[in-house]
Amino acid sequence: MTPAPRVPLPGDGPGAAGASVFRGVDHVGIGVGDMERALEFYGRRLGFTEVVFDHSGELPGLEELTHRQRRAARTVMLRHGNTTRLGPGRVKLVQVLDGDGSPPAPAGQQYGEVGICEVCLHVHDVEAVHRRLVDELGCEPLMEPLSAVLAPDDVPADLSYIGDPWRGKIELIEWTGLQETPPAQPRVEGVNHVAFGVSDMDATREFYARLGFTELLFESHGFFDAMAPWYSTRPLPDQHFVLAHAAGGGAGIEPVRLSPPGPDCRGEWGHLGPMEFAVGVTDLDAAVSELRATGVRFRSDVQAVDVGAGEWRYAYLEDPDGLYVSLVEEPS
Ligand SMILES: [Fe+2]
Repeated sequence: MTPAPRVPLPGDGPGAAGASVFRGVDHVGIGVGDMERALEFYGRRLGFTEVVFDHSGELPGLEELTHRQRRAARTVMLRHGNTTRLGPGRVKLVQVLDGDGSPPAPAGQQYGEVGICEVCLHVHDVEAVHRRLVDELGCEPLMEPLSAVLAPDDVPADLSYIGDPWRGKIELIEWTGLQETPPAQPRVEGVNHVAFGVSDMDATREFYARLGFTELLFESHGFFDAMAPWYSTRPLPDQHFVLAHAAGGGAGIEPVRLSPPGPDCRGEWGHLGPMEFAVGVTDLDAAVSELRATGVRFRSDVQAVDVGAGEWRYAYLEDPDGLYVSLVEEPS
């Protein structure tokens, strides 16, 4: 008699299900219209200077996501020069090379509609970094620096927003209450979290707990007043925010549910702005097997792309809202 597969439950934490360990958000995929311009922005201005790989060619495993037989792109994976525990994540810039190039940002996207809506970077000294980026380096300001205290544990944070060259939303945050040894100089660090709109918060939490996101940092209901200018074409919605991390490290997830909901802003794969994210795992084949055994459906098989320095291995899965989410095997 074959024993039934063990079903990981929320709260089990990473690694509890078997051989693979979930490592939080490894990277956020950002669609760009021109790679050289993007590298200047994300590299010189924001400090993502370490090129993990720079690959041009057809990407396998995107048939279901893109409804195309083939999709060619230039993909540049970048690690930040100041990667820290609060800014551990990478960015993956994607410029679609075939067809009409990178698709446009989703129509009607303001913030929190179903779809990926921001990449958040940890910084030291939000005010100083924001002023330097906006006043000296010409970045577009989308929200002036402010301080917030986040429920339910009164975690203090400073934050602001800027736009990338295609108006993708980049949050700058400093978890002032979580800093252990602040660095001396104002600076940007790596990715702290990715935000995305969802239609059912309970389903989202249950699903991502299976991927290791069991540590709640904050949860809030209401409306974040500083975002009011972004909702120019409809009444202000109620926003239910959750920010969760994986015990295994990596960047966090920030699902947002709007009431009433906005339009579907998932957009086409590769669209301009933050458009996908990947959860790091130590053993991709084991993670896929474990999740399949719990009923998770995958939108691609495991793919392996030769990127020169090694193999980039990933598999796209189906989250509750059909967002572009993959597992990626972390380099050993
Ligand atoms: Fe955020």
